[in-house]
Amino acid sequence: MPVNEKKPLILLIVGGGIAAYKSLELIRLLRGAEFEVRVVLTKAGAQFVTPLSLASLAGNKVYEDLFSLTDETEMGHIELSRQADLLVIAPATADFLAKAAQGLANDLASTLLLASDKSVLAAPAMNWRMWLHPATQRNFERLRSDGMLFIGPNHGAMACGEFGPGRMAEPEEIFAAINAVLHGQKRLAKDLAGRESLAGKKVVVTAGPTFEPIDPVRYIANRSSGKQGYAIAAAARDAGAKVVLVSGPVALPPLAGVELVRVETARDMAAAVEAALPCDVFIAAAAVADWRVDSDFDQKIKKNGDSPPALKLVENPDILATVARRSKNRPSLVVGFAAETEKLLEHARKKLARKGCDMIVANDISPEKGVMGGDQNTLVLISAQGEVAWPKLGKDEAARRLVEHIGELVSKIGGG
Ligand code: CTP
Repeated sequence: MPVNEKKPLILLIVGGGIAAYKSLELIRLLRGAEFEVRVVLTKAGAQFVTPLSLASLAGNKVYEDLFSLTDETEMGHIELSRQADLLVIAPATADFLAKAAQGLANDLASTLLLASDKSVLAAPAMNWRMWLHPATQRNFERLRSDGMLFIGPNHGAMACGEFGPGRMAEPEEIFAAINAVLHGQKRLAKDLAGRESLAGKKVVVTAGPTFEPIDPVRYIANRSSGKQGYAIAAAARDAGAKVVLVSGPVALPPLAGVELVRVETARDMAAAVEAALPCDVFIAAAAVADWRVDSDFDQKIKKNGDSPPALKLVENPDILATVARRSKNRPSLVVGFAAETEKLLEHARKKLARKGCDMIVANDISPEKGVMGGDQNTLVLISAQGEVAWPKLGKDEAARRLVEHIGELVSKIGGG
């Protein structure tokens, strides 16, 4: 780290779970990477780890009491959260998540959370039945839609001898997540200070697969993970845009600072995109199902001993082509993806013309490339201006470059 650069400050809330011992290792990793760490220990947390161990590793005093006269004189609780770059809750217990979801502020940790406008990363840890309980899942969903970020929980052996989801993420995983969040924020800060290539622009992104119902229990889907679309939405946000992300069913957490509209079917996605217009840039990264089942089975289809049922398919609306061909409110830039398993460039060039969009991002999804669900992508950008091929890149880096490219095109269109 350059000498003059301020060390990132992590405010770590240690909750009351057996996984609290892993937070000691997390502090060690953070300190090793030159982070400053301030620890807030809940009353329950203090049953599992001692303030002395935490303070020794953090090299800072540990805060425990909301009404401590000494602490409040030295540093008020509002100041404590204001100075932090990121709040981390590890372990985040079921009780703590419930409190946070309700916005309670009855101890130091919950008060800090409410008093802070910084990003919060939580690492849940609890017995699997507690994690899967509808109340915890409800709190988790609530917090996610409020913008809280989550790492884990993992699936595995628990201290209670049971096995399932609820094990706290490993210290190394939490450490990597902290770095990822701070890295994104730094880029945001840099963009805000300098070139905000999409400042003042509205960007609508579609991502993930669509689910097309066959009957109330079955559906047709595809292998899209939504990772590339989410990475594009995050990169557009970091470049200063107001972003609406219309997402099919995926296992990804919502993105802080991005408006998320969750949909299931292609028709829902088309309606959500329509509702999000007008916008400056539309990026269709979703793997929209081309067909849906032409049926209105309101009950589960049963085997009747005869031949299997025939499914009649009908075509779904083409969202990309519809947006690209709008006469009113057409975005200045319409970007589509061409996911192909063969003849990548040939198919992609035809798609550019057929869909009427301004740019196609050609994406080789042949199974041996491992793109669907994977973390890397090899993209070729095709537009009337020519073709640019990029080497294999991580999906985040590919998104950043794509957004940079889009920013340049938008500024040319706008005459900037
Ligand atoms: N797309 C869309 N709505 C659809 C189908 C596709 O918006 N009903 C968008 C995708 O988000 C992507 C682009 O169109 O940006 C191309 O998707 P792809 O599945 O590769 O193309 P198809 O339209 O399915 O064409 P083909 O069947 O020739 O592959």
